[in-house]
Amino acid sequence: MSTEKEKEKERKMFVGVVWNCAAELKYLLTALLFLCSLVTILQFLPTRFSLSASDLRPCLSSPTAPTTVTATATTATVSLSEDRNNTTNATTTATAPAAADAPTDVILLPQPAPPAMEKDQVLENGIIKRAFNPFGSAAYNFILMSAYRGGPNTFAVMGLASKPLHVFGKPSYQCQWVPFGGSGAEENVENQEPIVTDGQKILTDWGYGRVYTVVVVNCTFSAPVIGGGSGGGKLLLHAATNGGGDTNFNLTDTIEALTESGEDLKNFNQVYSAKPKYDYLYCGSSLFGNLSPQRVREWLAYHIRLFGGKSHFVMHDAGGVHPGVMEVLRPWMEKGYVTLHDIREQERFDGYYHNQFLVVNDCLHRHRYMAKWMFFFDVDEFLFVPKKSTLKTVMDSFSEYTQFTIEQMPMSNKLCLAEDAGKSYRKWGFEKLVYKDVKRGIRRDRKYVVQPRNVFATGVHMSQNTVGKTTHKTEGRIMYFHYHGTIADRREPCRRSVNTTDITIDGIPYSLDTSMRIVAGFVKRFELKMIGSVLQRTRQ
Ligand SMILES: *[C@@H]1O[C@H](CO)[C@@H](O)[C@H](O)[C@H]1NC(C)=O
Ligand SMILES: *[C@@H]1O[C@H](CO)[C@@H](O)[C@H](O)[C@H]1NC(C)=O
Ligand SMILES: *[C@@H]1O[C@H](CO)[C@@H](O)[C@H](O)[C@H]1NC(C)=O
Ligand SMILES: *[C@@H]1O[C@H](CO)[C@@H](O)[C@H](O)[C@H]1NC(C)=O
Ligand SMILES: *[C@@H]1O[C@H](CO)[C@@H](O)[C@H](O)[C@H]1NC(C)=O
Ligand SMILES: *[C@@H]1O[C@H](CO)[C@@H](O)[C@H](O)[C@H]1NC(C)=O
Repeated sequence: MSTEKEKEKERKMFVGVVWNCAAELKYLLTALLFLCSLVTILQFLPTRFSLSASDLRPCLSSPTAPTTVTATATTATVSLSEDRNNTTNATTTATAPAAADAPTDVILLPQPAPPAMEKDQVLENGIIKRAFNPFGSAAYNFILMSAYRGGPNTFAVMGLASKPLHVFGKPSYQCQWVPFGGSGAEENVENQEPIVTDGQKILTDWGYGRVYTVVVVNCTFSAPVIGGGSGGGKLLLHAATNGGGDTNFNLTDTIEALTESGEDLKNFNQVYSAKPKYDYLYCGSSLFGNLSPQRVREWLAYHIRLFGGKSHFVMHDAGGVHPGVMEVLRPWMEKGYVTLHDIREQERFDGYYHNQFLVVNDCLHRHRYMAKWMFFFDVDEFLFVPKKSTLKTVMDSFSEYTQFTIEQMPMSNKLCLAEDAGKSYRKWGFEKLVYKDVKRGIRRDRKYVVQPRNVFATGVHMSQNTVGKTTHKTEGRIMYFHYHGTIADRREPCRRSVNTTDITIDGIPYSLDTSMRIVAGFVKRFELKMIGSVLQRTRQ
């Protein structure tokens, strides 16, 4: 009897549990259905401003990112006009990785169903009105890489944007600061004016971009922006096409560029008000191709010795850091001299030279208050200060300048000294390649150094967004030796032995210059002292 009752109870409980689950399931399914129908409806809107793939992403990733879904569903306000001839504001919200270090998931998107077609029509007056049916979207409006605070009221946002949109349209950016309440929640914005400012767009690679161009958006508010209570806040970037791409629409993507906790702000203020941690910081360009581990090894040992203990090197791996290169980076990473960023993902977006303008701007703003001086040059280039001075005395002599540029010494990548013949494989690249191209009247690239606190964006050969003075009169005080074509050559570079101080080959006059050769011994001993003999067997 009692067992019967218990069984009955158990059965009821079981049913109850199932029913409760079902209720939750129903709720979930309803929510999903709602979202999917929203997505579907958006696709069929007559104006076929069917949201681009990026806009749909938050919806489709719902199982892993439920918060994203809610945010999107509540903030996506879509205002559309039946009138195809009208430029209407349309707002879609895209979520982006909040912090620079946050990993991002790649989500495969199904092909959306094609929207209803416009047909050609014969008008009353016999004229045939032709229809134009757009499909898809070939380049993103904005691809966020990072955003950093640069002061009490200012931020920089780094990203890529469709290049034709910038060349032929007038996209604009608006920045909004949303303080969190004391509990860390978003403050009730209805009661107060939104904190907004026009973003100043800086196009740093003007003329160089490809499908994408690099955009640095400077968001400077009229007053300091901080978190509500102890809660921090977030920076939104509203990226508007203003009718570029389709004059009927002012598509505006809202991007969560930065989320800042109270702790983040405290950390920033500490760095901001302190003396720079490093004297010299190197921001490297994108590393790609089949790099020679030996050449990279030589570059590191040489420059770490030159820059000294208060220096740091930021390298960007765009596919060039293969296991052999990793081996020569690792000892210096372990010593704290080198940080490696894996930027291979940017390869999806066709920009100039593996998006080097993007990563150097990221590097600038990421480390802006950590370094007194920032250097921008490549790993086949070697900085040099003549013997009568040191790097410190030279840098100090330029302290009144925000920026100075450095003259190039182009070196032959195949002429070596006859006396090295037979043993050149044991010598370092800058030790054996001693012939300098001395052809006159050629404009050569320069490289540059900045005091980053006064710089808002940077290019590759110099920065044009600075306050303060720039000088190019640095000849004889600092220079760089350029071993073009040696860094991605996995063979012994010496091809021809020369036993004279001057020689002309193919109309180019070369002259012996042993400035670099004579420091090789010191650099080798420095490497040995710092990291031991782990790299002795490095290959070309
Ligand atoms: C387009 O806009 C112009 C001016 O705003 C108006 O005169 C014209 O009738 C509109 N065309 C259509 C098809 O609505
Ligand atoms: C576009 O449509 C809006 C709302 O329908 C209207 O207020 C506005 O005047 C229109 N603008 C143009 C240029 O036709
Ligand atoms: C479009 O947005 C701008 C700025 O937010 C606003 O001033 C304008 O009135 C909006 N236009 C329409 C048609 O909603
Ligand atoms: C933005 O530009 C202003 C000058 O126009 C500058 O003072 C500020 O430091 C810049 N902010 C950043 C983050 O670069
Ligand atoms: C497009 O929208 C943005 C932001 O919503 C606004 O600032 C801009 O003025 C609008 N442009 C036009 C042409 O309406
Ligand atoms: C330099 O090389 C040339 C031919 O390669 C040779 O004839 C000459 O004797 C050499 N001179 C010296 C000083 O080694």
